[in-house]
Amino acid sequence: MNSDPNNSIGPAAVANPPAAKPLRAIIIEDAPDDLALLLLALRRAGFAPDCVHVQGAAELDAALRSGSWDIVLSDYTLPDFSGLLALAQVSAHDPDLPFIIISGNIGEDVAVAAMKAGAHDYLIKGNLTRLGAAVERELREAEMRRARRRDEVALSHARLRLQALANRMLEMQEAERRHLARELHDEIGQSLTAIKLNLEALSRRIGDETARRLADEIAAVAGEVLDQVRRLSLDLRPPQLDDLGLRAAMHWLVKRHTREPGPAIELEAPEDLPRLGPEAETACFRIAQEALTNILRHAGATRVRIALEVDAGLFCLDVCDDGRGFDVAAAQARALAGTSLGLVGMSERAALAGGEIRLVSSEGDGTRLSARFPLAAATSLSPGLALRTWDSASRQASPARGEGSSP
Ligand SMILES: Nc1ncnc2c1ncn2[C@@H]1O[C@H](COP(=O)(O)OP(=O)(O)O)[C@@H](O)[C@H]1O
Ligand SMILES: [Mg+2]
Repeated sequence: MNSDPNNSIGPAAVANPPAAKPLRAIIIEDAPDDLALLLLALRRAGFAPDCVHVQGAAELDAALRSGSWDIVLSDYTLPDFSGLLALAQVSAHDPDLPFIIISGNIGEDVAVAAMKAGAHDYLIKGNLTRLGAAVERELREAEMRRARRRDEVALSHARLRLQALANRMLEMQEAERRHLARELHDEIGQSLTAIKLNLEALSRRIGDETARRLADEIAAVAGEVLDQVRRLSLDLRPPQLDDLGLRAAMHWLVKRHTREPGPAIELEAPEDLPRLGPEAETACFRIAQEALTNILRHAGATRVRIALEVDAGLFCLDVCDDGRGFDVAAAQARALAGTSLGLVGMSERAALAGGEIRLVSSEGDGTRLSARFPLAAATSLSPGLALRTWDSASRQASPARGEGSSP
C-alpha cells in the first residue's frame, strides 16, 4: 500500500520489489566463504533461503529425513564426501528432488559425467549469475515430474480398480449364467418334461378323437419348448465347461454351430491337452465362442479351423477362417469408440486371465485370431513345460498387414 501522505505519484509510489520466494534448500559445502557467496547469490536472485548446511553422508541423511526440500545445491569435492556420493544418496531418497552441482572448475568431462549420473545442472562457483534462473527452472521441472508421477500413480490405481471391476463383473456374469442355465435345465426343463409325458399318457386314455388330437398337439408344443429351453440353457453355459473341461466344451461349441448352410468347422484338440484353471478355461471358451459368432455373422467363410494346443510353453487357441477378412485397426478404433463390444470383450477376458490376443486379417484373405495363455494358469502341467511369454515363444503370428493386439 502507498504510505505517501500526499498520495503523489513519484519515487515513493514505486511498487515494492516482489516478496522473496521461500526456498528450502540443502547446501553441501565445506568452505564457509563459498557458502556465504552462495546464500548471497540466492538472495540476489529473489529467494529467501531456508537452508540446512551439511558436509557428510550422515548429516545429509538426517537432513533429507527431517523435512521436505525444494532443492539440493552441492559442491563437487569435499574433504570427506563428494558431490557424486551426495547425488546418489539424494536420488535414492527422492529421484524428483533437484540437484545442482556448484563447484570450482571441474572440467567439462567430469561435469558431463555428473549430469549423466543424474545431476540436474552444473554451475561454476566463480560465476553464479545463472543460479537464479537454474533454480527457478529446476523447481518448475521438479513440480512437473512430481505431477507426472502423481498422474501415473493415479492412472495405475484407476487401471487396477477397473481391472478388479471387470474381473468381478465377468465372474458375476458367469455365475449368473451358470445359475440360469441350471435353473432352466433342471427346474423348468423337468416341469416341461412332466407336462409332456403326462399329456402323452392322457392322450392314450382319451376316447374322443378331437380331444386326443388337441392333447397330442399340446404335448408336441411342450416338447418344442423343452428343446428350446435346453438349447438356451446350454448356450448360457454348457455344463461341459464345469464338469469335463474346455476340450469337451469346445467340441460341444463346434457341434452347436455346425449347420447347413454354413462353413465346415474343424476342431483340433489333442486328448492330452493340459487343463487350465477355471477362469482361464472360461476365458478361452468365451473368446472362441465370440470368434465363432463373428465368423458366422461377418466373415462369409466356407471353412473354419479351431486349434487348441500347447506350443513353446504357452496354451494356444487359434481360430482361422477363409472369409472376407476385415480392417483390424479400423474395427479396433470403432470398438474403442464403444460401437462394438466383441473385440474389446475378447481381449479383456484374455488379459484378465493373464493372456493376450492377436488378430491378423486382411481383406479378402480370411482372419486368424490367436489367444495365448501362460501355462502357469494350468492346473495340470505336462512335465518339462516352462513358462514362456508370447514374444519369447518360437512360433509367432506373422507380422502381416492388419495385425494387431485387440484393444
Ligand atoms: N472373422 C471376421 N471376419 C470378418 N469380419 C470380422 C470378423 N471378426 C470381426 N469382424 C469385424 O469386426 C467388427 C467388430 O466385431 P465385434 O467387436 O465382435 O462386434 P460385432 O460382432 O458386434 O459387430 C465386426 O462388425 C466385423 O466387421
Ligand atoms: Mg461380435
